[in-house]
Amino acid sequence: METLVTEIAPDIYRLSTYVPDADFMFNQFLVDAEEPLLFHCGLRALFPLVSEAASTVIPLDRLGWITFGHVEADECGSLNSWVAAAPRAQVAHGAMGCLVSVNDLCDRPPVPLEDGQVIDLGGRRVRRLETPHMPHGWDAGLLFEETTGTLFCGDLFTAIGDAPALTEQEIVGPALAAEDVFGATCLTAATAPLMRRLADLAPTTMGLMHGPAYAGDCSTALRELADGYAERFARSQDG
Ligand SMILES: [Fe+2]
Ligand SMILES: [Fe+2]
Repeated sequence: METLVTEIAPDIYRLSTYVPDADFMFNQFLVDAEEPLLFHCGLRALFPLVSEAASTVIPLDRLGWITFGHVEADECGSLNSWVAAAPRAQVAHGAMGCLVSVNDLCDRPPVPLEDGQVIDLGGRRVRRLETPHMPHGWDAGLLFEETTGTLFCGDLFTAIGDAPALTEQEIVGPALAAEDVFGATCLTAATAPLMRRLADLAPTTMGLMHGPAYAGDCSTALRELADGYAERFARSQDG
């Protein structure tokens, strides 16, 4: 296995590892700025590969921030390995997630973020968006990089298989097909509205955790995904 590094937007790097046994890919994102930020730590088992890939972009002791969407092994399994490798980095997570999990799990006390809170990285600015239970996890949230319009959309649009680093090809169909296999998303009345709120950000690029980065019409893709979940939620209410 190898971790491929691709710049998907100015100073925004995708670190991508395809795991053939699972026919599934795991991506992390590095935002290079005065205080570089890592979004998703990745699986503990992949830390040697991913950290080596990250170090081709920046020395790890320059890393300023470590954050992720929700508590799960592929999001933060390697959190404490990153904390050890990046002595200056602050760990940040949603306030609820800090209270429930990360204050206890993390070797460095985390910075709790409120919904909509911006971290100015110096050259890049990221905003934490709380999305409780969407796609899953009480503490779930996403990250929007405002200067490039990049939405780090975590497990949204998760697809099975390998994928190119950056695409404008259709991502909604593969995502709904994977949803119907995995059932990974909490189907609630809030699921589709939260996705539509992300569409209102009008992102120019989306960084998928399990799929390609997407440079097509992101708002339309998010609204179509929301429609797919609205249908599934409606069906779940029948009978
Ligand atoms: Fe997840
Ligand atoms: Fe994930």
